[in-house]
Order: sequence, then C-alpha cells, then structure tokens
Amino acid sequence: MTSLRDQVALITGSSRGIGAAIATLFAREGARVVVHGRDAKALETVQARIEAAGGQVLAVTADLTRFDQVEAMRERIEASFGPVDILVANAGGSPVRPGPVELISEQDWHATVDGNLTATFLTVKSYLPGMKQRGHGNIITLSSAAARRPNAGSPVAYAAAKAAIELLTKDLAAQAGPHGVRVNCIAPETIMTERNRQEIPEHVQQSLVANHPIRRLGTPEDVAEAALYLASDSASWISGIILDIAGGSVLL
Ligand SMILES: NC(=O)c1ccc[n+]([C@@H]2O[C@H](COP(=O)([O-])OP(=O)(O)OC[C@H]3O[C@@H](n4cnc5c(N)ncnc54)[C@H](OP(=O)(O)O)[C@@H]3O)[C@@H](O)[C@H]2O)c1
Repeated sequence: MTSLRDQVALITGSSRGIGAAIATLFAREGARVVVHGRDAKALETVQARIEAAGGQVLAVTADLTRFDQVEAMRERIEASFGPVDILVANAGGSPVRPGPVELISEQDWHATVDGNLTATFLTVKSYLPGMKQRGHGNIITLSSAAARRPNAGSPVAYAAAKAAIELLTKDLAAQAGPHGVRVNCIAPETIMTERNRQEIPEHVQQSLVANHPIRRLGTPEDVAEAALYLASDSASWISGIILDIAGGSVLL
C-alpha cells in the first residue's frame, strides 16, 4: 500500500474522530503523517496506534483560531518532516446545540464561525503560499451535510460556516489550480465517531438509518477512503468539487 509514498500529509483535528481515521489510512498508504489537535494525550494515543502499525508520524498541537499558533506549527512540521504536500483541513465541529436564530448568543456564533470557517481559512493561508511556490499541493476541506440542507436540524451557525467553507474551497480551487494545487471538499452526513456514538442515543441512531438509501450510518473510515481518493493521483483531474459522503441521503 504505497499510493501516498513520500508525501507529507497534515490532517488537522486528528486527535480523534474522522481526522484520526484519515491519518491512520494515509499512514498505511505510505505517507508521513502529521497528527494535530489541542489534546496532547489524545494525540499520543493516535500517534502510538499509527507507529504500532509501522507508520511514520509526528504529533503537533495548536489552536487553529490563532494564526501565530498555526504558523508556529507549520515551522515545526517543516523542520521535522519538510513541507506539507497534502493538507486535510479537518478540524471543526459545532460547539452549540440547534435552536432558533434569535437565541444564538454572539459568543456562540463567533465560536462556531471561528472554529470552522476561520480555522480553515487560517490553515490554508499558512500552507498555500509554499504549495504554490513548489508548484504542487493538495488541499481537502471538511464541510457537512448540514451545509447542503437548510433547517434540517443542525445548528445554523455551523451549517452557515460549513457552507462558506464550500464556497471558499471552490474559490481556492480556481486560484490555486494554475499553480499545480488541487482543492476539494468532503461533506459527510452524521458519522459514527466515538463522540457521536456516546452523544446520540441508540434509538435515535436507529431512526437516522431510515434517512439513508444505503441503510446504515457512516463511519470515520468511509470518510477516510474518500479523502484518500481525493489526495491520490487517481483524482489528478479533480478539483473544486464537494463530495457528499452521505449514504445517498443528500440527493439534491
Ligand atoms: N462526525 C460527524 O458526524 C460529522 C459530520 C459532518 C461533518 N463533520 C466534520 O468533520 C470534521 C471532523 O469531525 P469529527 O466528528 O471527527 O470531530 P471530533 O471527533 O469532535 O474531533 C474534532 C477534532 O478537531 C480538533 N479541533 C476542533 N477545533 C479546533 C481548534 N480550534 N484548534 C485545533 N483543533 C481543533 C479537535 O482537537 P482536540 O479535541 O484535540 O482539541 C479534534 O481533533 C469537522 O470539521 C466536522 O465539522 C463531522
């Protein structure tokens, strides 16, 4: 398994969940992976798992809403592994529950937009110049099915931030393509990460299955396989797409 051999891949938000699955698969495919998060202990666990399987891995911490920390992280990665070839800007999530727009506090709004849209922007801002200079690179951003469907039960600040990430991705693809950089976006439906397994009651999980033409919920590995495809040369003429990983549940 060497489809990513000699590539350096940074997966932000890989201390757990989808990001950890992407990092594990990319390492198995021969990439030197950089795992990232804020929780050093969780990162240690992911790092140990990848190393035990024979992978090469570096663990870094940074708050991606702070550009000084994003830049310091890049410098550390470049000093250890060299420049990043594949950037998966995966970190994000909703810090708040769904509810009426007028009840969203300003603080929650900013936390959601910063943790998703701004974090993605700052990460891309840090890595894109080097990719353009070197004439190659691959960026994958993370949206959500929430961005594809208004008023479908997700927090609207989160859905709006993810919709903006989709637009940012397409703009970036247009800007960066002539410099040899591909940029694509993955939009997953509810994925059974460890966090979702704990937070979504069993009977709700069962009822969600019925919304999917493919009658099961998604796994982190489903998303990781899609990321691998987009990162690999098999997708060398694909840029600017939003790829729904949704078991057929997003049909429009
Ligand atoms: N799971 C789903 O059902 C689902 C569906 C659609 C889209 N998504 C998207 O897929 C991505 C991964 O989701 P997930 O469910 O795997 O998330 P998760 O299990 O909650 O993990 C989130 C990861 O992002 C990191 N992170 C979050 N904010 C950060 C910040 N400001 N600075 C640095 N790191 C930050 C976390 O780091 P620490 O924990 O170490 O602090 C963690 O590694 C997210 O963008 C999410 O919106 C998920």
